[in-house]
Amino acid sequence: MNDISILDAQGIAWAVKGHTIISDIDICLREGETLGLIGPNGSGKSTLLRIMAGLLKPTSGNICLKGQPMQRMARRQIARLVTLVSQQAETEDRITVRDAVELGRTPWLTALNPWGANDEAAVTQALQAVNMEAMSTREWSTLSGGERQRVHIARAHAQSPELLLLDEPTNHLDIHHQLAILDLVKTLPVTAVIALHDIHHALRCDRILVLKAGKKVALGPPANTLTSDLMRHVFSVDARMVPDPAGGASLISFQRIHST
Ligand SMILES: Nc1ncnc2c1ncn2[C@@H]1O[C@H](COP(=O)(O)OP(=O)(O)OP(=O)(O)O)[C@@H](O)[C@H]1O
Ligand SMILES: [Mg+2]
Repeated sequence: MNDISILDAQGIAWAVKGHTIISDIDICLREGETLGLIGPNGSGKSTLLRIMAGLLKPTSGNICLKGQPMQRMARRQIARLVTLVSQQAETEDRITVRDAVELGRTPWLTALNPWGANDEAAVTQALQAVNMEAMSTREWSTLSGGERQRVHIARAHAQSPELLLLDEPTNHLDIHHQLAILDLVKTLPVTAVIALHDIHHALRCDRILVLKAGKKVALGPPANTLTSDLMRHVFSVDARMVPDPAGGASLISFQRIHST
């Protein structure tokens, strides 16, 4: 991780039909970091990720990607730098797993640069990274929810982005594959923003951005950010650190605060 900014978003807001969904978001992503995005349901995580991916135009504010204003960049230029795996990602039913991952190479293909060995290699490597190589000829529609999720992540990986945006990527995954995806993101040479509900997973990120009702509540390293005051204020839960007697990572115990 270093101090070069890959994405710099200042004063971001998005409103629909007169309702402000997110506002006053400033975030500068450092190259190579993994940023966890947490907040209650409806707090604006998916909306912010779609804005960062260039899929939603902010109602106000500016975003620069590698120093260039995003609104002046061509779709293909953005797609070579940023990819989003959305919360409810879907894919055309009648294609194979490998076909789905090959779609990730689309932004790199031109008349002068048609499909080649490097594209094949990127697809194979991406399938291996999510442990889906053995299923590469299977039809998409026959996959389980977790297998589909892993293929979506492979498609994003094959796109070779510099900024990887993942909206609840561990949804549907068994515990082994949840940890495998988080470890994979850490090993890829990318900057990543991951919307998460599992606070234990958030603890593994370099920094955390906490949203509540569309506003930034906190931003910083997990240990300083996820305080019991913040957990009470944002999630209405009492949170207590429980040290692992075996010396591993601490766990957090949660208790819902009943509204009076
Ligand atoms: N096109 C839209 N029209 C109306 N309301 C919208 C639209 N898009 C998003 N919203 C609202 O904006 C709020 C934020 O939605 P968003 O999907 O960003 O939340 P989230 O933090 O990702 O929630 P979750 O944890 O449930 O995925 C929600 O209240 C949602 O209903
Ligand atoms: Mg969401």
